[in-house]
Amino acid sequence: MKIAVIGLGTVGKGLLSVIDRKGEGILLTAVADSKSAIISNQGLSPKTVLEKKVKTGLCGEPGLTAKSVIDTADYDILVELSPTNADTAEPAVTYIRSALARGKHVVTSNKGPIALYYRELKELAHKNEVSLRYEATVAGAIPIIHTLCHGLKGNTIKSLYGVLNGTCNYILTRMASEGLTYLQALNEARELGYAEADPAYDVKGIDAAIKLVILANTIWDMGITLKDAKVTGIDLLTSDAVRLAEEQESTIRLIAEAVPEKGMIRVSPRIIPKSHPLVVDGSLNAITLCTDLAGEITMIGKGAGSIETASAVLGDILFIYEKKE
Ligand code: HSE
Repeated sequence: MKIAVIGLGTVGKGLLSVIDRKGEGILLTAVADSKSAIISNQGLSPKTVLEKKVKTGLCGEPGLTAKSVIDTADYDILVELSPTNADTAEPAVTYIRSALARGKHVVTSNKGPIALYYRELKELAHKNEVSLRYEATVAGAIPIIHTLCHGLKGNTIKSLYGVLNGTCNYILTRMASEGLTYLQALNEARELGYAEADPAYDVKGIDAAIKLVILANTIWDMGITLKDAKVTGIDLLTSDAVRLAEEQESTIRLIAEAVPEKGMIRVSPRIIPKSHPLVVDGSLNAITLCTDLAGEITMIGKGAGSIETASAVLGDILFIYEKKE
């Protein structure tokens, strides 16, 4: 299975290092970052590409672009891992459209195209008889999309509640447990590679809302976008508010909620008892699904991080690989 990787940030580096360790059957034929690219239809060493990136800041030749990779390289799956643009989804959505139109499968961790153009991209994939998979867009390592589309197929999902942003959860945990200020905790989350390229997406609740929209469209095919979500972030939360909640055996978490029968798509900081299943620590995410057959299911796992998110990307690549065999 030949893959071309676009984007060599936190997730891209994680994926290359995982493929280097255990990518049997996967041949890396091209890589592009925002300023360069490299193509070798015989296959590239993920380790060598990573070393070059660390040494020079570039993965390949400055004259080559992501577009040239997508249009000319030999690959079965385009793995699109560039940073999210929540306003336009560009340039990723153009990359994804081009690859699907070439009859290539697409695996992405990029939330913009899936949140804004889900129906169109799914239809394009269907028309070209290829797969579009996006497990890594929501909740990092937790296989939530797979669970919804496969494990819980046949269930009616009535509602979902979740902690969907690792950065906010890390900040809230550190403010409560160590008494850090909001800014100190945010800086730590950035250093650990949890935050988005623009951390305003995290702390203003936008990232969690985008993930909620992706889940709602996956489950209920609602055709909604970010504009349909009511969003409040944690950027205005004070250390005093966190301390007051702690004094009452409670804590504050940024909770995403989707309850279609009430027309509710909402992200907001909530005071909840410490014993609640959604009270998870650090960069963990948690999602509770309320279903008709399986009852309530809560999944917990790392919501951000290089290798953890690469786990979700690798799962999608291998799913397509195994389906073709
Ligand atoms: N910035 C995101 C988070 C990364 O903190 O959850 C994973 O989407």
